[in-house]
Amino acid sequence: MADSVRIGMTGVGYWGSKLARNIYESRECDLAWIVDPDPALRSAAADRYGCPAFSDLGEALAQGAADGVVLATPASMHAEHARQCLEAGAGVMVEKPLALTGAEARSLTSLADSKGLVLMVGHTFLFSEPVRYLRQLIADGSLGDVLYVYSQRLNLGIIRDDLNALWNLGPHDIAIALYLLDDRPARVSSRQYALLSRELEDVAFVTLEFDAGPVVHIHESWLDPRKVRLLTIVGSKAMAVYDDTDGDSPIRIYDTGVVAHDEDGQEVPLGQRAPEVGESFAQFKLLTRAGDMHAPRLVGAEPLRSEIDHFAASLRGDHPPLTDGAHGADVVAVLEAADASSAQGGAVVPVDW
Ligand SMILES: NC(=O)c1ccc[n+]([C@@H]2O[C@H](COP(=O)([O-])OP(=O)(O)OC[C@H]3O[C@@H](n4cnc5c(N)ncnc54)[C@H](O)[C@@H]3O)[C@@H](O)[C@H]2O)c1
Repeated sequence: MADSVRIGMTGVGYWGSKLARNIYESRECDLAWIVDPDPALRSAAADRYGCPAFSDLGEALAQGAADGVVLATPASMHAEHARQCLEAGAGVMVEKPLALTGAEARSLTSLADSKGLVLMVGHTFLFSEPVRYLRQLIADGSLGDVLYVYSQRLNLGIIRDDLNALWNLGPHDIAIALYLLDDRPARVSSRQYALLSRELEDVAFVTLEFDAGPVVHIHESWLDPRKVRLLTIVGSKAMAVYDDTDGDSPIRIYDTGVVAHDEDGQEVPLGQRAPEVGESFAQFKLLTRAGDMHAPRLVGAEPLRSEIDHFAASLRGDHPPLTDGAHGADVVAVLEAADASSAQGGAVVPVDW
């Protein structure tokens, strides 16, 4: 592989145009070519970046000028396009969701592994400073045991006609939950509603249950009056709120919680000491504790730039991708379980790992 990693960009619509700019501006890679069947988008991108442009991915891959390819094509094409890139010997970063079925997602992961090629998924938030900070807070015990998490991704629009709200917005929140908790949910329940009289559901409520204890609740909608990007983590020692619409202080940590006092007046942090035989939490006096709020100063690169730089480094062999094929397939498995639950009126269903 040449010193400078060459990356081809496929699909330069709304999201792909941002990715193309980041590939072009990154010092870690060069933009090898772009592909889009739309002539106006294709020529605009080719003019802006001075790179070759093609209407067909196969044609571009045949040039052999790319070490890796970024795909921001419609979700229904992800699996087919990713397979095409891997078969041609190129690593690939696929926008979310990796595929529309768990079987397709797992088969892509196996193909990449068998060829020793990089397969990465564009779960952008895992490259954002606030999410990384939250993961560290949980890992170092600052929040205590995580009791529950809830996440809201709401807006008026963009109303898509290729995916429902869950499959379009849900990959973000599911990927964040799996990453923060460093675990996979055992069970899922979900209700989804098609409120605009189409076949696609506009609103989804999903609950993930983890064997280790935490419960995660996710609310997705493109039918809401305000843009809300809010994630709340309730821990046994402290709590954190991540508001992605707050550019100055996206994270606020509350030194707040509930403490139990045993009969001797000793403090027993909730979640950290199970009742012993013959004892129950009913014997403890529960007191709320409201301490200070702290908003850490976070400085980081644009998440998309970090994501592209990470893909380039993975292509160079510096490290495996954080959001690898297996992670992408896990997210798809949770989406499938949510669909299965919704089809059964919200029943709690096990996730097919
Ligand atoms: N990570 C994020 O936050 C985020 C945000 C928005 C969209 N996305 C993802 O990006 C992808 C694209 O979404 P979008 O909103 O940009 O859609 P879009 O419709 O604006 O762009 C899709 C582009 O793909 C092109 N295309 C269609 N068929 C193609 C083919 N055969 N070969 C090459 N290009 C082809 C279209 O001409 C279009 O330009 C989706 O998978 C979506 O989930 C991710």
